[in-house]
Amino acid sequence: MRIVLGVGGGIAAYKVASLLRLFTEAGHDVTVIPTEAATRFVGVATWEALSGHPVSNSVFDEVHTVNHVRLGHEAELIIVAPATADLLARAATGQANDLLTNTLLMAGGPVLMAPAMHTEMWRHPATQANVETLRSRGITVLEPATGRLTGADSGPGRLPEPEAIFAAALALAGAPAVPNAPELTTSDERASGAVPAGRPLAGLTVTISAGGTREPLDPVRFLGNRSSGKQGVALAVAAREAGARVRLLAAHMDVPAPDGVEVVRVETALELRKAALHAAADSDVVVMAAAVADFRPADVSGTKIKKRDDSADPVISLVRNPDILRELVEVRDAASRNQLIVGFAAETGDADGDVLEYAAAKLSRKACDLLVVNHVGQDKVFGEDTNEVVILSRSGSEPQEASGSKSDVAAAVIDRISAELSRVVPPA
Ligand code: CTP
Repeated sequence: MRIVLGVGGGIAAYKVASLLRLFTEAGHDVTVIPTEAATRFVGVATWEALSGHPVSNSVFDEVHTVNHVRLGHEAELIIVAPATADLLARAATGQANDLLTNTLLMAGGPVLMAPAMHTEMWRHPATQANVETLRSRGITVLEPATGRLTGADSGPGRLPEPEAIFAAALALAGAPAVPNAPELTTSDERASGAVPAGRPLAGLTVTISAGGTREPLDPVRFLGNRSSGKQGVALAVAAREAGARVRLLAAHMDVPAPDGVEVVRVETALELRKAALHAAADSDVVVMAAAVADFRPADVSGTKIKKRDDSADPVISLVRNPDILRELVEVRDAASRNQLIVGFAAETGDADGDVLEYAAAKLSRKACDLLVVNHVGQDKVFGEDTNEVVILSRSGSEPQEASGSKSDVAAAVIDRISAELSRVVPPA
């Protein structure tokens, strides 16, 4: 795909070098157009080396090719990252005072803008009005991520991670993240009855994460969990049997990956996050069955941590891992995609509420479409061959219980996914 990557003048421009790599490694042809201010953060030579194309921000370069018209015309997708407050304002008011804004005025294909700025600038009514104007014209403006900003401040205003922008951009352009992926039956074809009997997921791509992440402490030790991966693998088999093209994001598992599915191995939560955002870009359904560590060690020692009689007992500090499920939902919603996202949760009841109350609260917190809830507490789930779940739905349908072998539970979950999909896109 022919892509124009516009880069605004903000410190987050350095992150856009990784975004550029994601596109070029996936086989896309990217022309970078930095603003004048952007080149003060990352130089033209970097963009030229990474894109393999000459880079300019002037309308007076390559005049004989009518560059300021040609680039926007030819681009199948335009991405602007970071979209600064100034760039959003210039785009919203239709200015054409550099090559990037000229190109935006000539855009024939989809345009995605990923803002980054300080929270006050983002929340300013002027910026919000510009964002609204751009959105009303069909431009996708992502919500900025929340977290630490350039100074001591934190809040909404961070550039979303390159993988999230990559996934949202490809979803917007309707392109598969994996080049040469087989043609899928489209929603329209499904709607016209092209779903073979007994294979309700035929023509769909289903990504399933399974197993437990391992968070390294040093070269030989890690923090892990007792997830066996059995339920995730059973889901992959059931989805394959239902006719889906299945991608299994396999963290640590006690069981082998099944045949007939594409396997992506991951170790840590951060690796799983990257793989999940990448895979989600061309998935119709994403099931997060993996047990993702909520925390990882703040420091990973490059050498084995030794015990020493003369020093105090070591203390392990932990930092939060990103919530992958929540991020998948955010990326999907930012790109207004039709994608079904399923979460898993282990819940216990207590004096303040029962399992279902806590699970319903989690479903609305995570904002996924289905939540498969394991009732834990009787040491029944990890590594066992049987399972007992309740499936909750955001669409408001009745909670559904399923129990038996992990294959039985997987079949029930896949049935429920098929039912939800046919509710959205009825197969004729
Ligand atoms: N999950 C995720 N990213 C994380 C943690 C969890 O995507 N960093 C996903 C899991 O794959 C699962 C769901 O979120 O689909 C579980 O949510 P979580 O909040 O971790 O629930 P519990 O494990 O039940 O734990 P807690 O109640 O402590 O939040």
